[in-house]
Amino acid sequence: MATAHPAYPVGLRLTGRRVVVLGGGQVAQRRLPALIAAGADLLLVSPEATPSVEAMADTGEITWERRAYADGDLADAWYALIATSDPTANAAASAEAERHRVWCVRSDDADAATAWTPATGHSEGVTVAVLTTEAKGRDPRHTAAIRDAVVEGLRDGTLVAPHHRTRTPGVALVGGGPGDPDLITVRGRRLLAEADVVIADRLGPRDLLDELPPHVEVIDAAKIPYGRFMAQEAINNALIEHARQGKAVVRLKGGDPFVFGRGMEEAHALAEAGIPCTVVPGISSSISVPGAAGIPVTHRGVAHEFTVVSGHVAPDDERSLVDWAALAKLRGTLVILMGVDKIGRIAETLTAHGKPQDTPVALIQEGTTAAQRRVDATLATVADAVRTHEVRPPAVIVIGEVAALTPAPPA
Ligand SMILES: C[S@@+](CC[C@H](N)C(=O)[O-])C[C@H]1O[C@@H](n2cnc3c(N)ncnc32)[C@H](O)[C@@H]1O
Repeated sequence: MATAHPAYPVGLRLTGRRVVVLGGGQVAQRRLPALIAAGADLLLVSPEATPSVEAMADTGEITWERRAYADGDLADAWYALIATSDPTANAAASAEAERHRVWCVRSDDADAATAWTPATGHSEGVTVAVLTTEAKGRDPRHTAAIRDAVVEGLRDGTLVAPHHRTRTPGVALVGGGPGDPDLITVRGRRLLAEADVVIADRLGPRDLLDELPPHVEVIDAAKIPYGRFMAQEAINNALIEHARQGKAVVRLKGGDPFVFGRGMEEAHALAEAGIPCTVVPGISSSISVPGAAGIPVTHRGVAHEFTVVSGHVAPDDERSLVDWAALAKLRGTLVILMGVDKIGRIAETLTAHGKPQDTPVALIQEGTTAAQRRVDATLATVADAVRTHEVRPPAVIVIGEVAALTPAPPA
């Protein structure tokens, strides 16, 4: 049935409708899940089946008749997939499909088929289906590559297709990861690409902001004037105001919004104002920055726990909620965020409560960015090391034996 005309693309609504699959091999295994997802009433006719196809029959997702194709099998079908290993049976089934006017896909002869299966993918409620125009030019790898490019682009936001009827309403609190723009989540990147307004912190993947289309208003959270409000209240108000104007607002935060990120304060303020809020987790610097510097926060036989602590206030500050004496007794890894200024007092407190002076310490400044650097010390020397090497925030401090591990395993 060679023809110069292109195939006509259409979406079949198969719910409850009989679809017959002939042959239970690899082709059926690949195609059946989508047919099941489409709600088709599936009949498989095949003497054998792969274990995965058999499992689909066992769970009742398909009906399996263990026999060869027989004339009449397609009489009640709306659609057929012909994929047996017997070309004569395939040709006979194809002729029957033609007689009954059942659209049929043939795995062995695209030219003889009356339908082709497109390369499909899904992203946020949209199905992307890619078909080659004619049988002779069919290049399944090329169509799959186009499908992948489109789906990936939609998922990560590099392909921007703004929603006109439905888009995420309200505010998305998006964790931007530690700094490297590749370390934001796929969802975060997509929401960023769909935003009208982005309110960003100083920390986080600033490079992503350069990629935003020109109409997107980017607001530096540090520069929101706060007059009679606290800075955080002013940020909350800015989020609420923009969302009330019907804009898609992204609050882009460094790392994860709920790790020392005040994400919950913003979520509460939005809830009080009746604004829908979506939280998109991010890769926290507490794990990823040590990792980027070659330090695992846990390691078999070395550290079976890690504790993430804020070093924002000194151990003797009455506002501190951290039990440093208890932390000094733990064998695991201590990861301290916002601790550069207070590390001298922290090290003294830990050693005063029994942590050995020679406990390894690593400070990683601006982790995952081009400016990343690492300074190594011990609890006894860390205060001096910070001064000598001029370590500046943002830095993650790792205290524990994991900081002394080297990438090469011990000989
Ligand atoms: C206010 S906390 C926010 C933490 C963030 N929500 C997270 O999950 O990573 C800021 C602190 O995170 C750490 N930090 C964040 N990004 C960093 C990076 N790229 N390199 C080193 N430290 C970083 C520093 O300790 C910094 O002072």
